[in-house]
Amino acid sequence: MNSNNFWKLLGALGAAFALPWLTLIVIPFISFSNFEPVAYAEGEEVDGGVLSYPDRALQRHGASDYGRKIYAAEGCSYCHTQVVRPTYAGPDMWRPGWGGREEEKLARETQPYDYSTEAFALLGYQRIGQDLSNLGHRITTRALMHQHLSDPKSLDPDSGMPAYRHLYTESPYGKGLLPTPKAEALVDYLLSLKKDQPLPAEYVTGR
Ligand code: HEC
Repeated sequence: MNSNNFWKLLGALGAAFALPWLTLIVIPFISFSNFEPVAYAEGEEVDGGVLSYPDRALQRHGASDYGRKIYAAEGCSYCHTQVVRPTYAGPDMWRPGWGGREEEKLARETQPYDYSTEAFALLGYQRIGQDLSNLGHRITTRALMHQHLSDPKSLDPDSGMPAYRHLYTESPYGKGLLPTPKAEALVDYLLSLKKDQPLPAEYVTGR
């Protein structure tokens, strides 16, 4: 190989790495990092007095933030995703409850800014279990959430979900399990999983 070819090869290699890096990392990073919350127009206000998308108040939920760390540490993301894909990429929107509140016509695919109130996004990469993006609308009581974590087979004998018994202690008063603070925080987090906040018209049509 003469030295001219060597430089050509080096240039081609450089381009092969630089192009994907630019288009997959640098450009998305720049375009996503300057985002300001979009306010609802008059008459568009949604329940709970939420003023903008994404809802900045969600950032103040300290308890569920600890729960998010437990979720990460316990490896829930090995079996559960938190992204409702666009229908061209998969049939998520056809699965009952995955997209959110269907009866209120609020079910939708996940948007990039749905994660902007989270310290880190737990997308997951396998779906042994359901997508949990909108779990907070499907399981709404602490008791049921605890039962699902401590003894999933009591709800469905064929469940492939492991029991997270180490997050519970035996009750000293006979039968039953007591949740540890970790289990309580995890349940706070799971109940808060709702990614169907209505999108302001301005966000949908673009600015
Ligand atoms: C080895 C894979 C696996 C891991 C790890 C796992 N799950 Fe699951 N999970 C499943 C499967 C399979 C189901 C479906 C069967 C069922 O409902 O029990 C499920 C169902 C669920 C459900 C019910 C979802 C619904 O829509 O009704 C919840 C809640 C849940 N998992 C939470 C968790 C949490 C929290 C963790 C981490 C502490 C976790 N899972 C870890 C496999 C797993």
